[in-house]
Amino acid sequence: GIDEALKNKRVLITAGPTQEAIDPVRFISNHSSGKMGYAIAKAFRNAGARVNLVSGPVNLKAPINIDLTHVKSAKEMFEATKSLFGGADIIIYVAAVADYAAKNVSDIKIKKKEGDLSIPLERTPDIAGTLGKLKKSHQIAVGFALETNDALENATQKLDKKNFDFIVLNSLQDKGAGFRYDTNKIKVVHKGGLLKEFELKSKDDVALDILNEVKEVLKNRPI
Ligand code: C5P
Repeated sequence: GIDEALKNKRVLITAGPTQEAIDPVRFISNHSSGKMGYAIAKAFRNAGARVNLVSGPVNLKAPINIDLTHVKSAKEMFEATKSLFGGADIIIYVAAVADYAAKNVSDIKIKKKEGDLSIPLERTPDIAGTLGKLKKSHQIAVGFALETNDALENATQKLDKKNFDFIVLNSLQDKGAGFRYDTNKIKVVHKGGLLKEFELKSKDDVALDILNEVKEVLKNRPI
């Protein structure tokens, strides 16, 4: 039901993968399903928040009473997120943004030839990192980290670098956690170092845990 602490709060969430075109028929992407981001968006909506969801290409239904912006590439996600950022109280970066995009997108289908092919790639904008530098003191930012190794150390570095209030870690090592599953097992690292570990649970329940962590941050700061 409606949560007084979150009622009418403006929440901005990025979700899903991005697709980086190589030519008219091919792209670089990843296995993100968008389920975690959409679950978080619905949890905040149900609590009475006003939710903007910026979503890469996913196979999920558009949730009702959520302002949904569809994007494809990291650049498009960056532009959409940037334009909504100033009006947001809480920003949650769940999207699995592609790290690289083709330097030159071919406008015709690339023909196969004998031998190997190399495609020059360039870095995509770091959405969370760039907007982290513009973050105001009233804004709360939450990041995600998916690591296959050195998870805690990398997550803590990311937390500082991208100016997150806390970061949600999910490991591909945990059974039933991460991409495509309906369950997830997370750890949360707060700015300042507080670490919380959670059980394996449904992504809807994980979303509620994350919502509660946001409420903790809200409680500990003046409005
Ligand atoms: O650096 P890394 O990709 O592991 O950081 C993960 C966090 O940063 C996630 O919250 C993700 O949504 C965000 N991110 C982003 N833009 C990128 C890369 C990651 O917003 N280009």
